[in-house]
Amino acid sequence: QTGKGAFFEVLLMPLIEVRDLKKYYSSGLINKQYSRAVDGVSFHINRGETLGLVGESGCGKTTVGRLLLRLVEPTSGRITFDGTDIIGLKKGEMRKLRPRMQMIFQDPESSLNPRMRIGESISEPFRLKLRGEMSRGEMKERVLELVDMVGLNPEHVNRFPHQLSGGQNQRVVLARILAIKPEFIVADEPTASLDVSVQAQILRLMMDLKSEFGLTMLFISHDMDVMRHMSDRIAVMEKGKIISTIDN
Ligand SMILES: Nc1ncnc2c1ncn2[C@@H]1O[C@H](COP(=O)(O)OP(=O)(O)OP(=O)(O)O)[C@@H](O)[C@H]1O
Ligand SMILES: [Mg+2]
Repeated sequence: QTGKGAFFEVLLMPLIEVRDLKKYYSSGLINKQYSRAVDGVSFHINRGETLGLVGESGCGKTTVGRLLLRLVEPTSGRITFDGTDIIGLKKGEMRKLRPRMQMIFQDPESSLNPRMRIGESISEPFRLKLRGEMSRGEMKERVLELVDMVGLNPEHVNRFPHQLSGGQNQRVVLARILAIKPEFIVADEPTASLDVSVQAQILRLMMDLKSEFGLTMLFISHDMDVMRHMSDRIAVMEKGKIISTIDN
């Protein structure tokens, strides 16, 4: 096989492949009761694609998202990211992979350090990565670029999360994620805590960023309208299982 053929094969491969993934939590001391949070799901997400995950509260959506980033360990099953079986990875290897996958949560303030100014939060990823290689001036410039990209004002940079609105904080989270430059994002009800008018703005921003940076996404929501707007395909979950996948 030629090198070129192998190269194209990699590009055609889904970024994420999940096979028979399960997460059981033991829920009772008596009778060895298990709660089957995720009960054997299989799916793939192509590069640049947004897969929507929809279903009733408690059906296992968040657990699937957390499993994909290995924030929780699966009971069994396989997760492949860019051709690598991530379940088999050791801690150090996983740490290297982690910047390539990021999660956006419902409550933006939970992912921001309350004692860090917005500018510091946004610059933290590249302060850690490019320590010494970037001057203060360059860093400031990069932060302002990101702030502008997500539609915040330059003066927000000096504020703390509690001095911004929920929508503004979710923009900060997006700017911070863009600083990390991931390939894959799990967005877990990213607008559920926001006002309806602000929700639409944040969703539009996410669509723009997604196409600009070619991101691949798992988009979790229980709102079918939002889902239809954001996703290429929609997987419907019920009691830990995917019961159907719809082209959108
Ligand atoms: N750490 C845990 N320990 C025990 N049970 C858990 C844990 N995390 C989740 N579960 C259970 O797993 C099931 C799925 O939870 P999950 O948070 O994935 O649902 P969800 O679909 O995201 O719901 P929602 O729409 O309300 O966010 C629930 O029954 C929940 O109680
Ligand atoms: Mg959830």
